[in-house]
Amino acid sequence: MAPPPPPLGQRLLGHLRPMILILLMAQAWSVTILTLLLKLDLRTLFTYDTLRHKAFGRMWAKYGDLMSREMPLNTAALLATVRGTVLDLGPGSGSQLYQFTPGQIDVAYGVEPAVDLHVLLRAAAEKRGFEGRYKVVTAGAEPESLVPALAREGVIGEGGAEVFDEIVCVRVLCGVPRQEEVVKGLYRLLKPGGRLVVSEHVVNPWRLKEGSIVARGLQIGYHLLGWKFWAGGCCMDRDTEKSLKEAGSWSKIALERSQSWAVIPHIVGYLVKA
Ligand SMILES: C[S@@+](CC[C@H](N)C(=O)[O-])C[C@H]1O[C@@H](n2cnc3c(N)ncnc32)[C@H](O)[C@@H]1O
Repeated sequence: MAPPPPPLGQRLLGHLRPMILILLMAQAWSVTILTLLLKLDLRTLFTYDTLRHKAFGRMWAKYGDLMSREMPLNTAALLATVRGTVLDLGPGSGSQLYQFTPGQIDVAYGVEPAVDLHVLLRAAAEKRGFEGRYKVVTAGAEPESLVPALAREGVIGEGGAEVFDEIVCVRVLCGVPRQEEVVKGLYRLLKPGGRLVVSEHVVNPWRLKEGSIVARGLQIGYHLLGWKFWAGGCCMDRDTEKSLKEAGSWSKIALERSQSWAVIPHIVGYLVKA
């Protein structure tokens, strides 16, 4: 059973947290744009995707570790069980890598489109003891980007299916474009019996008893304040649990909801491909 919501004061503070992120991101956007203007790098300035990854990367390089100290439910224990050939989607600066158990991972592919974070990501992998078995790949999760990038790495051949024992998505499916298509693409890449491991923030389940209509209203409010733009494409209104369940046939689904009273509630757990 889910724990009861915290006292009102704590809930109010929780409701304000996204505002802090908007302010940090507004600062990161300003500095990124100014830096590019000073360098006369107009090409990057007018390539929206590169620009948003740069701005997000600037903020995450500075505050990512801080924002990773408290992860919902059993995220840490779950990541410690990841094994075999692994796709680590959107690992950022590698703030979660210290949760992995490198000894049980044959090889991991960290697919990260924000190239400015790659130096930190590689350093985190080495520090954690991956000893060259953590490969950093420049790509997005969208099939048209991910599949050719994995083919270049020699992970998949033509047709490109069923190669990973585990696919890890921590706080990334909230921001990928065309989530349903992306998740179906990930399903295709999993081996039968392989796990899709997730710790993701989702739309507030306000229709359920444990959900909150106030938090759902605030999610709409934050979106009106430009949350998606400031936070590099991140959305608060995604029913990721539904997308995951409908992506294909699963032999086991073990997902738990966390902080359903909050503006940033999570689902944590895994799905096993049938
Ligand atoms: C909130 S951060 C989470 C980083 C890391 N997973 C963690 O929890 O510490 C979201 C990450 O997703 C990456 N990202 C954004 N768009 C993406 C896409 N289309 N495909 C894959 N990753 C993406 C961002 O660059 C960023 O590193």
